[in-house]
Amino acid sequence: MSHMTLPPLPYDPTTLPRETARHYIPATDQEIQAMLGTLGLSQLDELFAHIPAPARMVDPPDLPEELGYADLYQHVVAQSQKNRLPAMTFLGDGLPHYSVPDLVPFVAGLRELMTAYTPYQPERSQGTLMTQWLYQCCLAMLTGFEAINASQYDRATALVEALYTAARLSRQGRTHFLLLGSLWPQDLEVVRTLLAGTRLTYEVVPIDPERGIVPLAVLEQQACAQAAMLAGIAFPQVNSLGCLEDIDGLTDLAHRLGARAIVVTDPMLLATGGLKAPGTFGAEGEGADILVGEAQHLAIPPHYGGPGLGVFGMRYNAAHQQDIRQAPGRFVGDAQDEAGRPAKVMVLSTREQHIRRHKATSNICTNQGFVATLAAAAVLARGEEGMRKACRQARANALTAARRLLRVPGVSLAFPETPFWNAFVLALPCSSASLVETARQRRMHLGVDVSLRIPGSGGNHLLLSFSDLQGPEHLERLVALFAEAIAMPRAKAAVSLPEVPATGLRRKPVGLPSWDQEQLRAFFVSLSEQNISPDRTCYPLGSCTMKYNPYINEVAAALPGFAYLHPAAPWADAQGTLEVLYNVQEYFKAITGLPAVTTQPVAGAQGELVGLKMFQAYHRSRGDTQRDIVLIPHSAHGTNPATATMAGFETVQRGAETLSGVVEINAGPNGQIAMDHLRQLLDRYRGRIAGIMVTNPNTSGVFERHFAEIAALIHAEGGLVYMDGANMNAIAGWVNLSALGVDAVHNNNHKTWTIPHGGGGPGDAIVAVSERLAPFLPGVQVVRSGHGYTLQHPPQSIGSVHRHFGNVGHKIRAYTYLRALGRAGVRRMSAVAVLAARYLHHRLKLHFPTLPQETPDSPRMHEFIITLPEATFETLEAAGISRARAIGPFGKLFLDFGYHAPTVSFPEAQGLMIEPTESYTKAELDRFANAIILMLHLVNEQPTILHTVPHFTPVDRIDDVSANKRVVVSTRLTTLPQVLPNRIAPDQLAQMPLEAIAEAIRTASAAKLESTR
Ligand SMILES: Cc1ncc(COP(=O)(O)O)c(C=O)c1O
Repeated sequence: MSHMTLPPLPYDPTTLPRETARHYIPATDQEIQAMLGTLGLSQLDELFAHIPAPARMVDPPDLPEELGYADLYQHVVAQSQKNRLPAMTFLGDGLPHYSVPDLVPFVAGLRELMTAYTPYQPERSQGTLMTQWLYQCCLAMLTGFEAINASQYDRATALVEALYTAARLSRQGRTHFLLLGSLWPQDLEVVRTLLAGTRLTYEVVPIDPERGIVPLAVLEQQACAQAAMLAGIAFPQVNSLGCLEDIDGLTDLAHRLGARAIVVTDPMLLATGGLKAPGTFGAEGEGADILVGEAQHLAIPPHYGGPGLGVFGMRYNAAHQQDIRQAPGRFVGDAQDEAGRPAKVMVLSTREQHIRRHKATSNICTNQGFVATLAAAAVLARGEEGMRKACRQARANALTAARRLLRVPGVSLAFPETPFWNAFVLALPCSSASLVETARQRRMHLGVDVSLRIPGSGGNHLLLSFSDLQGPEHLERLVALFAEAIAMPRAKAAVSLPEVPATGLRRKPVGLPSWDQEQLRAFFVSLSEQNISPDRTCYPLGSCTMKYNPYINEVAAALPGFAYLHPAAPWADAQGTLEVLYNVQEYFKAITGLPAVTTQPVAGAQGELVGLKMFQAYHRSRGDTQRDIVLIPHSAHGTNPATATMAGFETVQRGAETLSGVVEINAGPNGQIAMDHLRQLLDRYRGRIAGIMVTNPNTSGVFERHFAEIAALIHAEGGLVYMDGANMNAIAGWVNLSALGVDAVHNNNHKTWTIPHGGGGPGDAIVAVSERLAPFLPGVQVVRSGHGYTLQHPPQSIGSVHRHFGNVGHKIRAYTYLRALGRAGVRRMSAVAVLAARYLHHRLKLHFPTLPQETPDSPRMHEFIITLPEATFETLEAAGISRARAIGPFGKLFLDFGYHAPTVSFPEAQGLMIEPTESYTKAELDRFANAIILMLHLVNEQPTILHTVPHFTPVDRIDDVSANKRVVVSTRLTTLPQVLPNRIAPDQLAQMPLEAIAEAIRTASAAKLESTR
């Protein structure tokens, strides 16, 4: 490989042992052999000996040879440079690109915030909770909505959630919607995809081609005719043609008809000096009801469309106290710890999939949390004045450009009477496509040809969007291009532009405080210290695969060639990214053994939804419309049943009997699917089974030995097989999913493929499918042809599930990781993960019982579940700690030892699910095992410790019961919230002998008990 000059890395890899270890596996070969020896094995492949031979992959997946660190860096830089970035861009089209405050990359580099898990252990996650709370507050101040959730995938999926929410809120059981045709076509496509086969219906009301908006009178007529079933009207504030809709009229119309006003907005435009806050829409100012938006551009560059940041808001005031209970996704709320210290905690969780399963308000689990964190940082860094400036600059640029371009003969505003803000459509005297191409030749991404959005357009309509990134020289070159390309003789006289009516403008300032940048940096650093990261120690959350996230992945994703590419860029300029996506498709075919792959889904739960939507489309295509049952094991993750419901398999029960929807399959004593129960269900629902969803290895960490047999039974019934691949870290490279009979599987990239969890997201998913589902794949496929890499729609595609191409930035990360693993690395990675789990289990099972009851034929894979010994439960009960209340506090003891807790009480109520991953040395695993054994001794000796844990986190145990009684999800920000220090920092705990920690716990517990006496 020839060597080019590379930008210096922003860290010194030689100081990061996990970063430079081969395949990011720090255990030495000797340590690996020692662990194998303890288990009585001599080679890694013996760990998979119990997997039925026909399911095993013969050869390692056919990936390129691994790249060493320096070559990897050079490779990704060269790859990013295959994208051709323009010198200036006027793309936007609902995904603009603004300047990014310096604080944002700084916060993005705070590893404890970026790599932490969802804050299910609030005492160890105050950093994440606070940043997401700040996001909720900033967005609440901008929008005037009281309750903003901690994020959705993107604007399009947030819109779908809004429709579901409005239907749930309808007291009359209304399920019909009117959607303005001026919403983004990409978003409308996602609505079409995801509502197909559900009970929700909608109509799209067309745009008036003269005015660029949907006239209220037309809409009113349609709405009144359908009023009895109308649950909501969804409309944009600034539409996909840049025009301002009649927001007050639309809000009032919805309310007059007893429907919800659902507004789609851009928070950047709601700054002081900008547009009216949706919380004040309507002639009386009572506001819209549900808010949807995209906020990616508050914080990060376009990344070819993702990770995005879907905004979702609800009213939560005196008139709407209960609506929030129907909202999808996570909320962070105000709380106190047991000693009355201020804290944050996730609230209203009982609505969510992990608790309510098929009755959840949504299937969303992993969200876009870290982009929300960065958006909070961006808004705080800009402050009131910075937000105003960005918004006004975008407006000023649009006005200047419009005034000057309209002097070019033949160029006119497509909608001269309709006000716009920072984007407008021009009618050209030539084809827009040809002008776009001319501009491209001059390294300018001119705009988006929107002719297809305007009925009767002659192909000459061009949308130009503006932000704070254009300076006078860019506008100058834009005008020059028009003058030259259109080549008409004389300039026209000045044209007047439509005014934005005062009723469309923001009335009161947002009131964001402004802080010194250094103060903000220190604040975010102190927040990061409240979390822990898998960088330092084992982060043993079972089923979550908290492995090490290589720094180099972050560098790759942030390379300007990748990060600044807009999803509307011509494909010829996007060759570097398209090649990555193509290779990712190919790699995952090899890894799964399945013939086709989509890279569009953005989380595991969304992968599941894609799978079930494809199942429905497949059955429909065969005229097989009676299939209304999805079989799911009892132990499945809550997203599985929630997904089935969202896809349209709503559960109807009569007494204990399920008539349709989700039917649970029991597990046998070995933790695997009970085959006799499955057979009974197949008999009972013959001809009606759409499919089965099985996690494999299952959530007990056991490989489902009968998977192929199960698949054959389901196929014989005409059903299809979904494999939840959350646990691919155990089997990647070893098991051929085609041989197992899988029709669709998702890989959670934020688990197996090293995407950081971001305190809850953004995650990512790749779905691989069998031959029979390949024609139905969502979105686009990247194909290689003589012209390079291009995009193709699968012939019977279900449609898109994301407004663009999914979380492309995450595909860059996964690609970078896969190039470091290479052919040999995929197998080695999963084998060492299984080895680490087996070794740890081997050490712990001498002290703790395993759940479900261990059997010789079900060796644990990458994770295992332990519980407390019976004698310990009895000791605890004698001390007033019931069996049901013992496991949660025992999990909190892990925090005292500087670790994160394992997954607590899932899927076994009394279980601790531990997944160590391949990212730690034997010495680290040994210390971890010793710590857990010591915890048991401590509790046996002094059970009251469980009354007082945790002791060293910044706060004591958080009172989430009170937080859920009086839910507070936002406040007006005036000062930076107080950040309490750790009582003993995790780094310090990591240096202390375990006995010294135990002694400190004894002392702290006694003092706490004394003080509460
Ligand atoms: C077994 C299993 N299935 C599905 C999911 C949902 O995946 P995601 O959070 O990426 O949507 C999870 C997440 O933890 C999981 O553990």
